[in-house]
Amino acid sequence: MLEPRSDNGPHVKHLTATVGTESSKQRVEETFDASLHRITVLTKQENVRAIQDANIVFLAMKPIKRAEVFAEPGFKETLRGKFIVSIMAGITTKEVERLVLGGEPSDSETPIQAVRAMPNMAARIREAVTLWTGSIGTTKRNLKIASWIFSQVGEAYEIPEGSFDICAVLVGCAGSLLLLAIDGLLDAAVAEGVRRPEVQNLVVNSAIGMMKLVPAGDHPGVLREKIASPGGCSIRALLELEKLGVRSAFTTAILAAAEKSKSMSSS
Ligand SMILES: NC(=O)c1ccc[n+]([C@@H]2O[C@H](COP(=O)([O-])OP(=O)(O)OC[C@H]3O[C@@H](n4cnc5c(N)ncnc54)[C@H](OP(=O)(O)O)[C@@H]3O)[C@@H](O)[C@H]2O)c1
Repeated sequence: MLEPRSDNGPHVKHLTATVGTESSKQRVEETFDASLHRITVLTKQENVRAIQDANIVFLAMKPIKRAEVFAEPGFKETLRGKFIVSIMAGITTKEVERLVLGGEPSDSETPIQAVRAMPNMAARIREAVTLWTGSIGTTKRNLKIASWIFSQVGEAYEIPEGSFDICAVLVGCAGSLLLLAIDGLLDAAVAEGVRRPEVQNLVVNSAIGMMKLVPAGDHPGVLREKIASPGGCSIRALLELEKLGVRSAFTTAILAAAEKSKSMSSS
């Protein structure tokens, strides 16, 4: 539920969350214990009730569950006219429209109000990068609200839907590839007799520091060259990675993820 506010963002009066199971309900209630006067947690049997009083509805179930959720009696009917924000990976605004309207033609007088967004897990510490795009016809006011919501948990960028899949996997999946690299680096420490916990934060914090040089103005390729001194250790390590095809492996992995993302709305 929203109330008008004088600054750029809306005033969030109340949040209602629904989850699949009783155990999730308990977990969420425990997590938000201090804010339960403003948050109600319900289970999926009460999805329709949760939507009834809402101004904005977030769709955050796994994409594979969307057909089951939309098949609940009254679900899509209650959703019509609401501002919908979907964070379901790979689900286009067109697919959200299809789910809500159930195949009926869209009323051009009152087009569906929907935003598709891709946050990442760093939202937990308010350091997410969230990409979002609005369906045709979504009002400027609603687009502004979406941008405001996601800027509460990090940085929010509006991008065209045509490039959404590749950009979304770059913010949503690339982190898991970089974590795999960190894991590999730590394996080397273990092989040399150093325990993981002793070096984990050193490795992660030095990586964070190096990465921050990029938005500060250094091109990644130039930076990599600067680090790799002639006859030094870094160039030996980089040559090993080139031999193993690691750079193109990253490219191939992200392209595979983008293909998967493109196919999700039709599966
Ligand atoms: N994980 C990521 O990094 C990431 C990044 C960007 C976007 N996303 C998207 O964010 C969404 C959530 O992802 P996640 O990783 O957080 O998954 P998750 O932990 O499985 O969260 C899904 C939630 O939906 C609930 N749920 C299941 N069926 C429901 C129903 N019929 N009605 C209401 N709630 C229901 C689940 O409750 P139960 O567990 O009790 O069944 C669970 O709380 C997905 O659409 C995903 O594509 C995820």
